[in-house]
Amino acid sequence: MIRASLTAICLALLLSYQCWAKPNGPKNKKPKQVIPAVECDVRAGKVNLPEFIVKCPPRCRETRQQVYGTGVFASISSICNAAIHSGVITNSGGKVIVRKMAGQNVYKGSNSNGVRSLSLPKWRESFVVSVGKPKKGVIYPSTLDYVPSRPTYVKTNQKETTMLPPTSTAPEPTTTTPEPTTTTTTTPTPTTASTTTPPPPTTKARPVVHKVREADCKVDLAFLMDGSWSIGKRRFKIQKDFLTEVAQTINAGVAGPMMGIIQYGDDPVTEISLKTHSSSRELKAAIDKIVQKGGLSNVGKALHYINKHYFSDANGNRGGAPNVAVILVDGWPTDKVEEASRLARESGINIFFVTIEGPDDNEKQNLVEANFVDKAVCRTNGFFSLPVNSWFALRKAVQPLVKRVCDTDRLVCSKTCLNANDIAFVIDGSSSVGTGNFRTVLQFVANITREFEISDTDTRVGAVQYTYEQRLEFAFGQYNNKAELLNAIKRINYWSGGTSTGAAITYAAEQLFSKSKPNKRKIMIVITDGRSYDDVRAPALAVHRQGVIAYSIGIAWAAQDELEYIATDPDKEHSFFVDEFDNLYKFVPKIIHNICQEFNSQPRN
Ligand SMILES: *[C@@H]1O[C@H](CO)[C@@H](O)[C@H](O)[C@H]1NC(C)=O
Repeated sequence: MIRASLTAICLALLLSYQCWAKPNGPKNKKPKQVIPAVECDVRAGKVNLPEFIVKCPPRCRETRQQVYGTGVFASISSICNAAIHSGVITNSGGKVIVRKMAGQNVYKGSNSNGVRSLSLPKWRESFVVSVGKPKKGVIYPSTLDYVPSRPTYVKTNQKETTMLPPTSTAPEPTTTTPEPTTTTTTTPTPTTASTTTPPPPTTKARPVVHKVREADCKVDLAFLMDGSWSIGKRRFKIQKDFLTEVAQTINAGVAGPMMGIIQYGDDPVTEISLKTHSSSRELKAAIDKIVQKGGLSNVGKALHYINKHYFSDANGNRGGAPNVAVILVDGWPTDKVEEASRLARESGINIFFVTIEGPDDNEKQNLVEANFVDKAVCRTNGFFSLPVNSWFALRKAVQPLVKRVCDTDRLVCSKTCLNANDIAFVIDGSSSVGTGNFRTVLQFVANITREFEISDTDTRVGAVQYTYEQRLEFAFGQYNNKAELLNAIKRINYWSGGTSTGAAITYAAEQLFSKSKPNKRKIMIVITDGRSYDDVRAPALAVHRQGVIAYSIGIAWAAQDELEYIATDPDKEHSFFVDEFDNLYKFVPKIIHNICQEFNSQPRN
């Protein structure tokens, strides 16, 4: 009895063999804690544990590994450098306890112990560090469980987005064109399946399944199946058969795609979480058991659900694989999907719509949201949408759909440094600038704006001009296409007067950033040619605290110290000085590059 419970305690405490060796000894020797060593570049998010201890090597400070936040750090921060920043260890290294925490809305950068941390608007996971003295009775893991590294598609994306000027921002066709059947030669075809239509369904015959090779399709894939009453029993069964066939074709497995299912009606319900089944056979059995829930077709609600809950690490999101959600809709949704899809896309979920028996021309007027598919997907070129005329033709969609969701090179359009911002220009209109130079400043503003993808759901731009006073030239979203926006910039009238840069920053926060959309990156670009009459420090700090990433561009008589107060840390990446207006143009590519680099330095799902 006693021995058994002792054993249980030993196991519970994760004690080592010593427990077994001397179960009845007079006093158990304290087991020796093995502390795993990490390199300077290991980020907390890479370790799959809620709390753990590590040993940092000396001289991590010199490696300048990035750290985001102060006290509480975003999980993309280097553990060792966060520990130096916090004063938990010195630059000679040492033991650090890491405890994971929930994501924060703002991480404030600061300079501490020779480590400069950066600000970050939002991240999904945080951590705190403390001195590496294990608490009594707590044994930390002696080996670390690492999250697998990111797939190469992210790198491809980074390369693309940093190769500016943006010939890479391919213009979007405005009309829906069918997807070409053969993709470009740069895209390796991930499936062995042919692009031709599979044979028509024959009753009961087992389908010819062209299986995908596991490792070629590493995605975290969620299907949202329609469980609304409108669909009926028979079609619900067809939907289940379709999902089974997808599961077989895609060849689910831990090295390749993981697949889960949510059924939505009035409310969404997880039927199969991502990590539950690691083979197509298991999936098939689980799909068989799904029972129709009934209710409305609340797709928007379901999209909120997958964004908030489904693709969580606890639910099996691997982090190293792109998140893909395929929404099956019978007819059309009963709620709005645009905003929910945008939020989901902005957190890195690639959204596909398979619409079955969608609205005809007469029905379109009854829709809650016209053109809901185009509003929900990140490109309207047909890649992300698959209309199917009849439930009985759904099977034909298996191969093309699987081919697309596995095409990881193309699953990167959701959120980029060029489409995910609210950018406010704060423009000095003081007398010292002069009419000619003011025009150059406007050209500069236009040249930066031109690089971004402009629309109400992509990047939005607002502008404030200031002297002693401030004036809203135009608000976010007032001009929602590039041509109109560039026109509006050109039409800004030179004001002439004093220079109150601090007040102008506060004004921009009140007039522009207060109306920023959630999940947009808030970027402020202050352009000034002289020292401010008022103090910029408090206003700058206030906007930094709101998560605004601030750039300062100083010309001629601008004051270096002020430029640095205004700029987000590190200053050298956010603050620029030019001796004369005519040299302003040189900074356009640099600023875009830095905005994109900062964006890309955050890993994405
Ligand atoms: C803006 O772009 C135009 C066209 O590329 C260029 O001629 C001009 O010098 C640029 N001006 C500024 C201030 O960036």
